[in-house]
Amino acid sequence: MNFRLFVRLNLVIFSMFLLSCSPDNDNEVEKKIEQLINQMTLEEKVGQLMQKNGDHAQLEELISQGKVGSVLNEPDPERVYELQKIAVEESNHGIPLLIGRDVIHGFRTITPIPLGQAASWNADLVELCTRNAAIEAASQGINWSFAPMIDVTRDPRWGRIAESYGEDHLLNGIFGAAVVRGFQGDDLSDPTTIASCPKHYSGYGWAEGGRDYNTVSIPENQLHDIILPPFKMTIDAGATSIMTAFNEVNGIPASGDKVLLNDLLREEWGYEGVVLSDWESVIQMVVHGYTPDEKEAAYKAMQASLDMEMASTAYEDYLPQLVQEDRISENQIDAAVRRILKMKFKLGLFDDPYMHINNEFPELLDKKHLEDAKQLAVESHVLLKNNDILPLDDNINSIALIGPLADAPHDQLGTWVFDGRKEDAITPLESLKEKAEKDDIELLYHPALEISRSKEIINSTDIMRDVRRADIVLLFLGEESILSGESHCLADIDLPGAQEELVKMIASANTPVATVIMAGRPVTFEKVEPYMDAILYAWHPGTMAGPAITELVFGDQSPSGKLPVTFPRHVGTIPMYYNHKNTGKPATDETWERYEDIPTEAPQLSIGNTSHYLDYGFEPMYPFGYGLTYTSFEYDNLQLSKTELEADEILQVSVTLKNTGEHRAKEVVQLYTRQLYGSRTRPVRELRAFEKVELEPGEENEVVIDLNLENIGFHNPSMEYVVEPGDYHLWVGPDSQNGLKGEFEILRK
Ligand code: NOJ
Repeated sequence: MNFRLFVRLNLVIFSMFLLSCSPDNDNEVEKKIEQLINQMTLEEKVGQLMQKNGDHAQLEELISQGKVGSVLNEPDPERVYELQKIAVEESNHGIPLLIGRDVIHGFRTITPIPLGQAASWNADLVELCTRNAAIEAASQGINWSFAPMIDVTRDPRWGRIAESYGEDHLLNGIFGAAVVRGFQGDDLSDPTTIASCPKHYSGYGWAEGGRDYNTVSIPENQLHDIILPPFKMTIDAGATSIMTAFNEVNGIPASGDKVLLNDLLREEWGYEGVVLSDWESVIQMVVHGYTPDEKEAAYKAMQASLDMEMASTAYEDYLPQLVQEDRISENQIDAAVRRILKMKFKLGLFDDPYMHINNEFPELLDKKHLEDAKQLAVESHVLLKNNDILPLDDNINSIALIGPLADAPHDQLGTWVFDGRKEDAITPLESLKEKAEKDDIELLYHPALEISRSKEIINSTDIMRDVRRADIVLLFLGEESILSGESHCLADIDLPGAQEELVKMIASANTPVATVIMAGRPVTFEKVEPYMDAILYAWHPGTMAGPAITELVFGDQSPSGKLPVTFPRHVGTIPMYYNHKNTGKPATDETWERYEDIPTEAPQLSIGNTSHYLDYGFEPMYPFGYGLTYTSFEYDNLQLSKTELEADEILQVSVTLKNTGEHRAKEVVQLYTRQLYGSRTRPVRELRAFEKVELEPGEENEVVIDLNLENIGFHNPSMEYVVEPGDYHLWVGPDSQNGLKGEFEILRK
């Protein structure tokens, strides 16, 4: 026998022996990882650091040569099986592959876009739906999802706001952690769990002007107080991996940022998981103007301790050379390989690389998954206005169903849908038709515009005839899914096309109009808001949009969503966010000098001026946390366990919540604080906790929240995290502008 073949066969047998042992403890796994690393050549080690796209022309060959650690975008489970087989049976060490995919808001069963999920303020439900997504994805051979995206953003122009959990870092952290738990469960080696990948580390949502990939400049204290905490929370929840961002932060591209990746993430936070680049973000360091060439980009990324390169090949092209030149040590490469192998062990891939074939999974679109997705869609809808026309009256006879989004199965799924299918989506038209047939209601449907952007109204005469004939108009407006998402940013966020004209035309008939707006971002619609009698903000609700909306408009369930992001009145007022600073000249209604009222040839004044726009004032259209329901809630009896405490104590806050209306409904009780003065100025309000509570009509309940004061600090001018002594205000209420107010003091030690 030829010697090379002999050695190879022995290696394979040895690896199989290694791999078939079930690692019952960490030490054993570590020993196995070390054995593997000792057998691997430098090229094979670098191979583990490479992630290749599923359509790569030489994929099979590269895998058999041990030059691929992970594959992304391969949705065909049979091909996944083939690729795993090549990795396990043909490559020297038989190391299985990580199979990555963007499982962002569902797999085949599509749930609301993440921004909509955040509007539910129901992290348990999001965790449950993510668990379902993991099961569906795992059944197709996927073992790694590139989610959650926890990029805090204050800019609705940014297309990827749809994929975030909004403008608040606590919300991003809480939902990010729920998604991590949903994907990973209690045991990553369970065939139905997959690895998570919080992204994009960091600052990606802070792009100048809301234009994707744009420069990020952020003061260091804000980076640490706002952008980074959600990452820490997802890591604490056990996130297996982290993805870097495309952007630079204060002049350093995220994929080569040693301070943020190595020094903070690894050394200070002790994060031991895998760091993955974004698509070609390693070589984009050349385009950023940070490194002269791809070799230096590989050097910077490795120095920053980035483990795996997505799509581009700077690592395989240059790491061996950089090791030979003694600029990178083989130990650094080993550390990255170790982390990747550990992730594969944790996923149970060494025990069974073919889990999706060897185990039974529920069908895609399992009934329970659809039911959960519907419930999340219900809870993510935010009722912005209601002049007593929703829920619809029982004895309604005729509905005019109008608008381009009433029957748009592709668009209701939202952005970042790779594996959901429009043929599975149930549209509002379908559901309402079914309901109307059952209840003998006449349904008069007109799309009115071909798509959301169309500039021409089709069949206006017929539309107006039916609008006049109907008891109510259900008007479905908004944006197609392609108007948000990666690189799909907008400078103008008004309702697109001829939608404003459509609203005015329909309102001229004086039939009550309930509007449902489906969109990937907050859109601005102040000019036509007065023509709408009710507004239900749907985001992009996913596969089950139709059943969810039907239940809501007919009152089977009450809306319970609250805004995870401020709605501006006009795009020019952005950034507009709830946790802003007070400034030295805060505006009030009295000091707002209105555009229309300014006399001609008025003299320039400097006294008495405040911070506002002449034309759009200073208030948002709808504040963060806002949302109505079909009932009314009364907040009463705010109690604080103490009003003077030390910074390491827990403040117990309680309030009585009563359902004073006529519908069963859920309310999101929100707790905000304000530090009145400090070593830096502090925001006017900061969300600290929330609780979603369901009450029957007439029912009341005491809601108790434990506020750990250690969590209400910030980074002071010396960049130390501090909870400062002094005076604080606290509010418990239905949104970021209302609530019962309390006061407490943190004592100096
Ligand atoms: C680029 C996106 O920024 C990232 O979020 C995604 O996971 C990768 N492409 C892979 O599709």
